[in-house]
Amino acid sequence: MSVTGAIDGGAGTVPFIVTPVGRVMGAEISGVDLSKPFDDAVRDAILDALNAHQVLIFPDQDLSKEAQVAFTMRFGEMEQHVARNYDGKTFGDVHLVSNLDPEGNPTKTPRSSGNFFWHTDKSYHEIPSLSTILHAITIPPQGGGTQFANMQLAYEALPEEMKEKIAGLRAVHSWEASRNNTFNRPATEEQKKERPPVVHPMVRTHPGTGRKTLYVGTHTSHVEGMPVGEGRALLYQLLDFATHPRFQYTHYWKEGQVVMWDNRCLLHRAAADFEMDKYTRLLHRTVVRGTKPY
Ligand SMILES: [Fe+2]
Repeated sequence: MSVTGAIDGGAGTVPFIVTPVGRVMGAEISGVDLSKPFDDAVRDAILDALNAHQVLIFPDQDLSKEAQVAFTMRFGEMEQHVARNYDGKTFGDVHLVSNLDPEGNPTKTPRSSGNFFWHTDKSYHEIPSLSTILHAITIPPQGGGTQFANMQLAYEALPEEMKEKIAGLRAVHSWEASRNNTFNRPATEEQKKERPPVVHPMVRTHPGTGRKTLYVGTHTSHVEGMPVGEGRALLYQLLDFATHPRFQYTHYWKEGQVVMWDNRCLLHRAAADFEMDKYTRLLHRTVVRGTKPY
């Protein structure tokens, strides 16, 4: 499939090509320079491709942090992160995703390991994320991929009895639960106040496609109105089902790539499958706010 759009690359209008890459999601978008401005028709074509393929890979992008912010803001409001840097300060617009210690050396035990667990970004927000955008700066020679699981396909594959059981159920998501579920340092009182628990439907409707999708992950604590243990067991049962290899795509990075994915219907996690104390994995991350799940 190919999609053409009017891209102002400084040398006139050029097309971009959408080439599917994964068995269950993913497409490479070639012919777009994300550091240059582009018109709304191109922005809409990128969103169409995101709705169709969920993970978009833009190769060979020379993108400053400022240009990444400008690209991100074409799709909506930027999100800030509740986590803090080593110096206790907020990350700012561009969050550094890395396995580096405070001295800048690679480590097996980075300060936060939440990204090694299946989650959908910012589901602990009242209005969670539409998309996360990562720009690969330094990538280990082998491994260090990002795994994605397609919750739309998983929902569609659920037995009918389970679809009936979870219809109308809502899960509680919170930063505090996320920290606990991923064996991280507990949320601080300040963070708990900043990000109080929120409730979202466990089956949401994708606003771009109208398809139903599961909406679970390690930011959840329990199911509203259900005994905590029973609800947690149900959430983990759904998470296990949704992350079966048949719903997965693993992206192996190349430096310079930008990947943009759809948090409304995908889970993701980083693969800790490289020599983390030897090699650096560094990506620049920006997040676009979405809409309230329904
Ligand atoms: Fe994430």
